[in-house]
Amino acid sequence: MSGAARPPAAVEDGHGRRVTYLRLSVTDRCNYRCTYCMPEEGVAKVAHADVLSFEGAARITTVLARLGVTRVRLTGGEPLVRRALPDLVARLAAVPGIGEVVMTTNGDGLAAALPDLYAAGLRGVNVSLDSLDPVRFARVTRVGDLGAVRAGIEAAARRFPAVRLNTVAMAGFNDDELGRLCRFAWARGCVPRFLEHMPMSDGRLRPPGRFISAPEIRARILADLGGSFAPDQGDGQGHGPARYFRHSSGRLIGLIAALSDRFCGACNRIRLDATGRLHACLAHDGAVDLRAALAAGGEAAVEAAVRAALARKPDGHAFGLGSGGCAPTHMVAVGG
Ligand code: 5AD
Ligand code: SF4
Repeated sequence: MSGAARPPAAVEDGHGRRVTYLRLSVTDRCNYRCTYCMPEEGVAKVAHADVLSFEGAARITTVLARLGVTRVRLTGGEPLVRRALPDLVARLAAVPGIGEVVMTTNGDGLAAALPDLYAAGLRGVNVSLDSLDPVRFARVTRVGDLGAVRAGIEAAARRFPAVRLNTVAMAGFNDDELGRLCRFAWARGCVPRFLEHMPMSDGRLRPPGRFISAPEIRARILADLGGSFAPDQGDGQGHGPARYFRHSSGRLIGLIAALSDRFCGACNRIRLDATGRLHACLAHDGAVDLRAALAAGGEAAVEAAVRAALARKPDGHAFGLGSGGCAPTHMVAVGG
């Protein structure tokens, strides 16, 4: 393909939103088993034969870039579990129109993997960090090693500006260390981000009493740190659901408030799961099989399928604060 500058069509979805951001799940496997992300018994695993190849991922991304996608985030499961990941990063970074390839990871193994990923073109990471207490960390991840994740964060913070550290805020679990997590992130030049717990997996992974809303999260942080927060543009890369606030000390936090501040109007993203199925929305079933479209009709068939899926993209989730309003999909399978 020639690199001729062809302005992307910036296709709008059926609700007038431009889709510029692809979350690409490269595997549904994870070496961690976070309690809020997957049921203890795990979820049905994708057969190796059904996993989208790197070549397929690059071809589908080429089509999506023609339709306006400019950024790709690798997710999982845990992306570092997939073999030869730098090879995929290099292929995606070479797709015309893709300006940035980044990754969301649990951070375990990141320190060792980073040099090759960076050489291949990776330009940023988000790392999950739900607690700075080793015992709590092991409890929430069921198997995780806080030391390994901290080493991954240190390596990433040396390599990239503004690494984001994602914390799912949970009352009675980590709500007493939200300020400490801010200090930890800021001391390393990272941006702490706090997520309201989304009721995926039919709500089975959300114990009663655990929910804590974004305003409460801010209040907890201020109770610890003092000062105040003002809304902010963020680091300029935060388009989409995250909202940023600047603390009076000058440092940023991000909040992803799926429930208290339904953010779907700002949704700029689509998701490709590890089998090549396109999910127009995290919280709805009804994915479209782009791997099959590619095999049957090449890139033209992929483009037609994507356009049809975008036209049908739901206006948003129906998460509720009560017992209803849960999504049937599993976070570990869709990639967050
Ligand atoms: N609600 C909110 N965040 C979640 N994550 C995983 N499951 C959930 C959930 N149910 C987070 C992970 C990771 C990001 C991709 O999504 O901790 O940081
Ligand atoms: Fe794995 Fe991330 Fe899910 Fe934890 S949240 S089980 S690290 S995919």
